[in-house]
Amino acid sequence: MSRRFIVGGNWKMNGDKDKITEIVSNLMRGPLDPNAEVVIGVPSIYLAYVKSIMPDNISVAAQNCWKVPNGAFTGEVSPAMILDVGGEWVILGHSERRTIFNEKDDLIAEKVAHALDTGLNVIACIGESLEERESGKTEEVVFRQIKALLPAIADNWENVVLAYEPVWAIGTGKTATPQQAQDVHASLRHWLALNVSPDVAQNVRIQYGGSVTAANAKELAACSDIDGFLVGGASLKPEFIDIVNASQ
Ligand code: 13P
Repeated sequence: MSRRFIVGGNWKMNGDKDKITEIVSNLMRGPLDPNAEVVIGVPSIYLAYVKSIMPDNISVAAQNCWKVPNGAFTGEVSPAMILDVGGEWVILGHSERRTIFNEKDDLIAEKVAHALDTGLNVIACIGESLEERESGKTEEVVFRQIKALLPAIADNWENVVLAYEPVWAIGTGKTATPQQAQDVHASLRHWLALNVSPDVAQNVRIQYGGSVTAANAKELAACSDIDGFLVGGASLKPEFIDIVNASQ
């Protein structure tokens, strides 16, 4: 099995130039496990600045994009623009986009398709709410979310990373247990084997996200179907280095 460990930082709408400069200096000091791939999701307005100071071994992502290259879409940013300023990835389908900005599966799929067509790599986020988990609907929800993306991803699976982020674990300090996370990751892989191909199921990387910290990362990283993390709050802190290094 050769899935490279991949850790994403999702700064969300945080940071200013001073704070960003400090975080990047910290990343440069590392030391970072050379076997881990690192992608940092930054507010679009700082993409070019972050790219200009980030070492080449760390990729930069946008946290959202629109679904066409250009036009009359006030306030939006296209994948072509992200690429133009050095971004290589985009995070799509994050639960905050789904809930706060009311993004539905079909819009997310259109964004994923266009981002991949343009040449960006995509971190595609899925995950159930607390209510859905408590009513036993976790699998139903994540399978629905991933199914909606299949035509958009088509044969571009090598440019996609899935991020399983249970909504109840995001920013709450309430991490999924390694067993809870591993169970969903394994179910996703099983579903992909049946509905896409055994090859995709075996090779696609699935990150876990939701209150990952230096304190819980190693135990989560030891799970066989967890291939990395998408980290919110802790990606703004020095402990992010330990999270990147959690699979060592
Ligand atoms: P936290 O790590 O702050 O819980 O956020 C997770 C997340 O939403 C990453 O995309």
